[in-house]
Amino acid sequence: MSHAAPFYVTTPIFYPNAELHLGHAYAVTVCDILARYHRLQGDPTYFLTGADENTSKVIKAANELNKEPRQHLDDIVSSFKALFAELESSHDQFIRTSDEKVHWPGAVKLWNKLVEKGDIEKRSYKGLYCPSCEAFYTEKDLVEGKCPQHYIELETIEEENYFFLLSRYTQAIKEKIESGELNIIPQTRKNEILSVLKDGLQDVSFSRPRTKVPWGIPVPGDNAQVMYVWCDALSNYISALGYGSDDESLYEKFWPANVHVVGKDILRFHAAIWPGMLLSAGLPLPQNILVTGLIQSGGKKMSKSLGNVISPKELIDEYGVEALRAYFAKEISLFEDGELNRESFKASFNADLANGIGNLTSRVMKMAESNLDAPVVIPEENKVWSEEYKKAFEEFNIKKAIDVVFESIKTIDTAIQDTQPFKVVKTDPEKGKALIADLVIRLYGVAQHLAPFMPETSRKIQEAIASNKMPSESLFMRKD
Ligand code: MSP
Repeated sequence: MSHAAPFYVTTPIFYPNAELHLGHAYAVTVCDILARYHRLQGDPTYFLTGADENTSKVIKAANELNKEPRQHLDDIVSSFKALFAELESSHDQFIRTSDEKVHWPGAVKLWNKLVEKGDIEKRSYKGLYCPSCEAFYTEKDLVEGKCPQHYIELETIEEENYFFLLSRYTQAIKEKIESGELNIIPQTRKNEILSVLKDGLQDVSFSRPRTKVPWGIPVPGDNAQVMYVWCDALSNYISALGYGSDDESLYEKFWPANVHVVGKDILRFHAAIWPGMLLSAGLPLPQNILVTGLIQSGGKKMSKSLGNVISPKELIDEYGVEALRAYFAKEISLFEDGELNRESFKASFNADLANGIGNLTSRVMKMAESNLDAPVVIPEENKVWSEEYKKAFEEFNIKKAIDVVFESIKTIDTAIQDTQPFKVVKTDPEKGKALIADLVIRLYGVAQHLAPFMPETSRKIQEAIASNKMPSESLFMRKD
């Protein structure tokens, strides 16, 4: 980007139902890498994450643990925050949808906008409800008459609900997506949502009776109903910026979001219901929705019941968080499901980090420390960002961007072999020193471009260069 433009990136808000696994850690890391990149470009940046706390599952889980729901939520959210800190997440805000002060005013203001527009209607509703998804399904969504996600029998529920008249917005949403004004990445997901839109969108249930769901945001003007999922959860992206509060300056500055990062399982919510709500309220649409694949292990989606869950903590403890961040960026294709198992992790750690970055840093800095009298001063023209790398980030393609860095590591390795500076310096010291200084400059480029992905590693390499010393211990020790 040639000029500093505000950059607003969001993760989905996570359900506090269970411990977070690698799939969730992936979502946070992708957003963090994007946020760090934009900060380094000098763009005013806002990175939001949070927890989706108004779910009836919370009550059930708290009861089982003999805890008050609020206490239960606080405990889980502290564990989320601890994990995000370990992941080196640099989020600016962690929003909680149970937060009456921060979140509720925005959700209420948005609801009222939809009411003003005449898009909220009370109806008696009979539907098929999955208690695990906490969602209603229509007959055509079902798989052999069962919930498409959980394969369980659905309950028939009849109750009064407020509905949002989403069907009115099918055409407008379609146009925004087709024109790219609301850009869905990658193309396959764009096609998927366009084919959903072709069939027309149904109106959606927007509230539930408080008697059935005693936890959540009261519907404005009707205390007997609480908001249900959509207006409650999706509104976090603007309530977090102060929308509906006394101070909407962050909202003015950062909305519309540059990018919502979401998993493919929540594409429909973000690319159909959310834009419908914003159009109804007369608010700008997010610019991009980046839809990632799922992390798998052994070819299957990580899930507790399959026993293939690897905890982020396990990998961080054994390999360090930067190895996990590098794996996410480099080995997961971003747009398709990606594999992570203990063997693939170790192999990539040894090849890319121990033999790659670690080894290169030691080799170059050893030559520099033994042969140069002073630290190499990096010329300004060597501090520019690679165009290819910048272009990859403009497409949100963090995989392409980190590949550029690893390509340059390979090129530097080859240059060392070809030019043999450690030999040259003995016969022709001036020429040898110049070759070594050039390698240090190129190593600086690696550190600079690694910063969004591996901030600590980048810092350590830059420190080694600034002090003209080989790092006292290898950056990444080979694992056998
Ligand atoms: N609370 C909703 C989102 C509401 S956003 C307004 C939700 N929460 S979740 O905790 O179930 O999932 C959060 C995100 O994690 C989703 O984007 C989901 O796709 C992602 N992942 C869950 N499992 C995953 C993998 N195995 N791999 C990658 N991402 C995964 O949905």
